[in-house]
Amino acid sequence: MSDSVTAQRVSVLGLGAMGTALARALLAAGHEVTVWNRTAARAEALVAEGATAAATAGEALTAAELVILCVLDDAAVREHVEPARERLRGRVVVNLTTTTPEQARALGRWAEEGRIAWIDGGIMAVPSMIGGPGAFVLYSGVAAAFERLRPVLEVFGRAEFVGTDPGAAAMYDVSILGGMYAMFAAFRQGGAMVRTTGGSAARLAALMAPFLQAMTLSLTEQAVGIDTPERYVQEQSDEFTAAAIDLIDKAATESGTPTELFGVLRRVLTGL
Ligand SMILES: NC(=O)c1ccc[n+]([C@@H]2O[C@H](COP(=O)([O-])OP(=O)(O)OC[C@H]3O[C@@H](n4cnc5c(N)ncnc54)[C@H](OP(=O)(O)O)[C@@H]3O)[C@@H](O)[C@H]2O)c1
Repeated sequence: MSDSVTAQRVSVLGLGAMGTALARALLAAGHEVTVWNRTAARAEALVAEGATAAATAGEALTAAELVILCVLDDAAVREHVEPARERLRGRVVVNLTTTTPEQARALGRWAEEGRIAWIDGGIMAVPSMIGGPGAFVLYSGVAAAFERLRPVLEVFGRAEFVGTDPGAAAMYDVSILGGMYAMFAAFRQGGAMVRTTGGSAARLAALMAPFLQAMTLSLTEQAVGIDTPERYVQEQSDEFTAAAIDLIDKAATESGTPTELFGVLRRVLTGL
């Protein structure tokens, strides 16, 4: 426990791979942790490490002022919090379960009506990264509660508050993941293409990774074109970008690999 962080009572509901990592990080930081999991045996290792097991979800929800949820999905969250609204009044609930932005908003409205401080979160890490330097978590919802509990939440990784709309964290989360999947799709396509010349996806990975890393520097500049298009001076014309994508599309056709990705890229990036 660092001198600046006071030990807090924290409840963690959901001890899958991620919930276990979150509870472990809280224990390592010196917090008093109550845990609950639908399948009780999953709590045993954490109890051996100093956590207290709650017998029921309701007991865990009321054992601490700060309640962290990390279950499968929105339905699992609702199943346990809805019957406990009265008992959650005045507490801070941080829902780190992955949901859609609209599901997060609906839960935020439900919590506000029950005078529960609701914070939705999106974890940008895998369980082994929790508490390490590369992990960060997006949060949105009740700002004052977030700021008050920030030192506790920072044990998971960098804490990024992205807005008071409870759906904001989920929206940034899915947007970041969308970027990742678009990159994976293009890599898969490129891997298939270079193999038709006797190359390998492994060689492509070694060459593509540093190039893409350098390209990410231009995202900040491109953001101006989305946030304030009237102030944006585009470096390359849409015609230039469309021609470049058409050339890649032609190469894909020549290589006998699928081409549907490039039509989508052309439309999204140039509107042409
Ligand atoms: N793993 C990751 O890399 C990662 C990264 C970012 C975000 N997340 C998010 O974190 C959340 C948990 O992921 P995970 O990796 O820990 O998944 P997991 O290992 O599959 O665990 C799922 C957890 O949800 C519980 N659960 C499922 N249905 C439930 C219900 N109806 N009531 C109560 N508990 C229920 C399970 O309990 P039982 O043990 O009883 O089945 C288990 O504790 C998900 O929303 C996931 O999207 C995960």
